[in-house]
Amino acid sequence: MKRNVLTRMICVAVLAVVACGGSSLAASEMPRADGQALLDFLKTSDYQSWSLFPGKGKLYEGRHPHGAFLTTYVSKDALAAIEAKKGMLPVGAILVKENYSPEKKLAAITAMYRVKGYDAEAGDWFWAKYATDGKILAEGKVKGCINCHQAVLVNDWIFTGPVK
Ligand code: HEC
Repeated sequence: MKRNVLTRMICVAVLAVVACGGSSLAASEMPRADGQALLDFLKTSDYQSWSLFPGKGKLYEGRHPHGAFLTTYVSKDALAAIEAKKGMLPVGAILVKENYSPEKKLAAITAMYRVKGYDAEAGDWFWAKYATDGKILAEGKVKGCINCHQAVLVNDWIFTGPVK
């Protein structure tokens, strides 16, 4: 009897470690909903080493207003949700898109970052746009971003490819 309880406790502990130590980071390791905090996180986690948006290569052709050519990186948990066709990316998911000029010169970086309870009306996405020198050009519940991206709210506010 005692042994059973002990075994069960060990199992629970092992499960907890597996669940928490999985591919996504613990909430405490994620940046705040803040342009600079997100940029620092993108730099330290080297977002350019992340996977590309499924089905897209580097420097694919973009549409107005983002750039002539685009490269979009997705965090691990975002990738898993897109590939599993979950219909919605999890809290903590990040999409980073680099905008390039017609001459394929980096012009700006935009990001979408899902933060729990941040903006229930607009999918809890935190929006950010950076200049190439890291200057924050827009951040937060940015009306311009939201108003356009809401055209694809059935696809979790994401244009680039299907998530379900
Ligand atoms: C006028 C419409 C429009 C506006 C405004 C807009 N976007 Fe987008 N966005 C798009 C389209 C269309 C795409 C798909 C890429 C492409 O084909 O150009 C996209 C793609 C993205 C992506 C890649 C993931 C995805 O959703 O497909 C990110 C990240 C992004 N936009 C962030 C932003 C941010 C941040 C802002 C505001 C600063 C913004 N966007 C403003 C239309 C818009």
